Amino acid sequence: MTEVPFPDAQVHFGVFFQGVNHHTIWTDSASGSQIDFETFRRVATTAERGLFDAFFLGEGLRLREQDGQLLDTDIAGRPDAITQLAALAGITDRLGLVATQNATYNEPADLARRLASLDVLSGGRAGWNVVTTDNAWTGANFRRGGFLEHAQRYERAAEFLALAREIWDAWSETEARAVERDSAQFRVRITPTVPRSAQGHPVIFQAGVSPAGRDFAAAQAEVIFSPFGTHFEPAREFADDIRARLVAAGRPADDIRILPGTQIVLAENTAEVEEKKRWVLEQQITGATALSLAGQVWGRDLSHLDPDGPLPSEDPEASAISSTRGAQRDGQDRAAVVAQWRSLADAKGLTLRQVAVETTARFGFAGTPGQVADELTRWVRHGASHGFNITPYQVPTGLDEIVELLIPELQDRGSYRTAYTGTTLREHLGLRPPLSHR
Ligand SMILES: Cc1cc2nc3c(=O)[nH]c(=O)nc-3n(C[C@H](O)[C@H](O)[C@H](O)COP(=O)(O)O)c2cc1C
Repeated sequence: MTEVPFPDAQVHFGVFFQGVNHHTIWTDSASGSQIDFETFRRVATTAERGLFDAFFLGEGLRLREQDGQLLDTDIAGRPDAITQLAALAGITDRLGLVATQNATYNEPADLARRLASLDVLSGGRAGWNVVTTDNAWTGANFRRGGFLEHAQRYERAAEFLALAREIWDAWSETEARAVERDSAQFRVRITPTVPRSAQGHPVIFQAGVSPAGRDFAAAQAEVIFSPFGTHFEPAREFADDIRARLVAAGRPADDIRILPGTQIVLAENTAEVEEKKRWVLEQQITGATALSLAGQVWGRDLSHLDPDGPLPSEDPEASAISSTRGAQRDGQDRAAVVAQWRSLADAKGLTLRQVAVETTARFGFAGTPGQVADELTRWVRHGASHGFNITPYQVPTGLDEIVELLIPELQDRGSYRTAYTGTTLREHLGLRPPLSHR
């Protein structure tokens, strides 16, 4: 029998309320609004009923665009994450509340204070997903213009986070302790106004998988929101790489929790699983979404094409600038992606939309509750992840079947908690004290 490297590992769940993006089905009659509080309330209370570690929000500080037009093939717009989580703090008791906030356009004194406030008001349940953002146009929103190159974004993020930690740790009830910084990025003098929370300070999440992103995580993060939530081997390779980087950074190999984003489809038997999977994929990649995705690959507007027809015959634009973000398409070669789409279409006789489904569908797990519970347990016990950040394919009801059908199966296998044992997010995740408190 193969050895099980982590025989007692438990599956940790977060729910990623994705907001804008086509991975959530917004067009079905059962779908809710991405803005109404009722949707967030329903998802968060279901997650808490399912003993999830956290409710997780992404961030987009600018409406999505494509070739200068509003990208609204699914939905447009979303409320500010910290505001939304503060509202949820009032109606939940244990659930962690994680806000994605970028370090490129925010300012440390302001953001550290807002996150500390959420942490204190929620009784130590806040998390901060530190991203650098690849949307270059966001700068215009802040009248700052311009953008930072990839390496500089991570440099700024590291300094930003170090400064935020200093601000959190400088709190004192008896004296005004100022934190000062005068560097190329930041010029601040701040006296903290918010006390420490029950968990010390917000749990630090990170998302970004370039070598610079991985080193940043190994040096600074406590949880990684990774994109490796579909195939076991790439997930384990990523986790092994992070473990090695942690040790190289002088931290224990188990000092980080890795929660890949994933989607889960459950049904009672194999035939129903296949039918439901197909339905989800078809709803996610509508004709308009397929044309938008192809337009991003080709670098030009293809909205006049028939999504159920062939791929465009012309060559892609040579430009290295993304038509939806304004930034350099870091490392992505358009011609190579087009060649890959074409060979797939030729080999399988696929239409444009079918190719878009095959290449961009982000699917995690599909099966009966028992099958999926076995597979998730295998992932955590063989070191591929510590759990998952689940995007329900439909909100607000998509989490119901996970909580009602999957979690009891995981509990039967001894790989999921049967009650919360702590009150803070740090305790749910089984993390050590914050790095700056050791
Ligand atoms: C799983 C995942 C989720 C992300 N979520 C966001 C987000 O909500 N908002 C954002 O501005 N950037 C987000 N990012 C993008 C990162 O900010 C970063 O710009 C991008 O991944 C490039 O970094 P990398 O080259 O290290 O991967 C996310 C990245 C990953 C991998």
